[in-house]
Amino acid sequence: MAHRASIGIFDSGAGGLGVLFECLEMSRGVRYYYLSDEAHAPYGSRTEQEIASYVREGLQIFAALGVDAAVLACNTATAACVEEMRRAFPFPVVGTEPAVRLAGRAGCKHALVLVTPRTAECARFRALLARERERFTVFSPPRLASAVERFVTEGERFSLSDHLPRGAFGGVVLGCTHYTLVKEKIARFYGVPVFDGNRGTARRALALAGRDGCPPIGKDNHLEGANSTNKRLQSPCDFQTENEVIFLNSSKIYNRLCNEHMFLGRFLSRNVKISQDGGNFF
Ligand code: DGL
Repeated sequence: MAHRASIGIFDSGAGGLGVLFECLEMSRGVRYYYLSDEAHAPYGSRTEQEIASYVREGLQIFAALGVDAAVLACNTATAACVEEMRRAFPFPVVGTEPAVRLAGRAGCKHALVLVTPRTAECARFRALLARERERFTVFSPPRLASAVERFVTEGERFSLSDHLPRGAFGGVVLGCTHYTLVKEKIARFYGVPVFDGNRGTARRALALAGRDGCPPIGKDNHLEGANSTNKRLQSPCDFQTENEVIFLNSSKIYNRLCNEHMFLGRFLSRNVKISQDGGNFF
């Protein structure tokens, strides 16, 4: 039987679903494992050391499952420990970073960059901003990721005006994957273009999973300025085979996906089989 490429997607909660949706749109025949760490969320109010130890635990689970690549579908985890995880694991570890470059390329002169409080403090994020010429205003809403998590998993409504500053910006960069789940709402709130890194992350993960038999490629370490590898998207998608998503330890998200048409509809349209592994992973 042909090897089925498998990719582990990790986030503190539901934020990684945005990356997963992009992956599903671009692939067929891939098995995805989705692992969330609700027990320690929100990561935005944790220390870098704490986050690194939780992420390591998560990636160990992926290692035991034999994934081809892992995605930190979490800007906070990426900022805190992606390099450490790349050194610790044999498979490629793809990170997610605020799409400030994308905003700059789109001609956005003064963007509001929304990140979690922890990301805002991380040296990796500071270095990312320092590489760009445009002007950015960074804002860290302390409770927005948790509000989005409850909205997605429990349907609890919230108002963006309780979390976000008013102001005139040329665009908004969503530097937390949770925020991308309410992207349209945020776009309406500011009335300007909104940018996120979900698609780039998904493309890179699919390329790195090595489905075309090419050796693993490059690094996306912006600190070294090497970021050309997203171009090599996997070619041979087997359109006869459906994707598969197995939720590990993410029962709230799984149940919501099964019960809510809003999310299930998106999945069904991608021809995907979803299931849950009820094991105790953390
Ligand atoms: N989804 C995560 C991110 O992209 C963080 C949310 C949290 O604070 O747990 O930063």
